[in-house]
Amino acid sequence: MIYGLTNSKGGVGKTTIAVHLAAWLAKKGRKVVFVDADPQSSASQWIKELSIGIKLEQVPESGEIIRRVAKLSNDANDIVIDGPAGLSATTRAIMLQADRVFFPCGPSILDLRAASKAVLLLREAQKIRAGKPTGALIPNKLQKRGRLSREMMDAAKKLGIDVLAGLSLRQSFADVAGQAKVVWQMGTTSLLASHEMQQLMKEITGD
Ligand SMILES: Nc1ncnc2c1ncn2[C@@H]1O[C@H](COP(=O)(O)OP(=O)(O)OP(=O)(O)O)[C@@H](O)[C@H]1O
Ligand SMILES: [Mg+2]
Repeated sequence: MIYGLTNSKGGVGKTTIAVHLAAWLAKKGRKVVFVDADPQSSASQWIKELSIGIKLEQVPESGEIIRRVAKLSNDANDIVIDGPAGLSATTRAIMLQADRVFFPCGPSILDLRAASKAVLLLREAQKIRAGKPTGALIPNKLQKRGRLSREMMDAAKKLGIDVLAGLSLRQSFADVAGQAKVVWQMGTTSLLASHEMQQLMKEITGD
């Protein structure tokens, strides 16, 4: 399965969720390749520090993504692609390669409007690829997990895209990269964060 994390906006949780997804799949015994497609490569150090057997590939060149991912898919069970912010050629390439694309999105209507631009790219890809990839919105930094305002729910419905329960705003999610861990390795201080993240991983992978 090829998973892509992408959005037009920066700072919405793409890297945080992509790294946790790769770690989750590895924990399940899957052979995982993490493709860091962001030229800022903020996920790469985190993946290396986790040292849990996830293979890391840095592919910042948009023109390389399709060829490299196709090649990698021969010797991996799952590929997780962490995209850069923006509607760049890289974002398009991810949509042309992934089976499932997820759009982490901040908790405001402005964030959702930005995400709707990425959904337009998704629709283009789906036309070319007979309905692939599937797409879903992941609301992030919510006051409470699963609680979206009425306006956001209405706007998401208009986009015609699935909306996952998402993640709430928590210090543990902000701290976890600095500790070179994932939240379920952080112990008793992060039980709620760990539970939320694992629920999200189940939704993403369809477990
Ligand atoms: N649910 C959350 N609660 C608190 N902090 C969060 C949460 N999700 C992400 N963060 C923090 O928000 C910041 C942005 O997250 P992240 O780097 O994952 O986003 P991104 O979409 O990959 O950003 P970029 O576009 O810069 O690559 C980071 O400091 C991260 O620790
Ligand atoms: Mg990122």
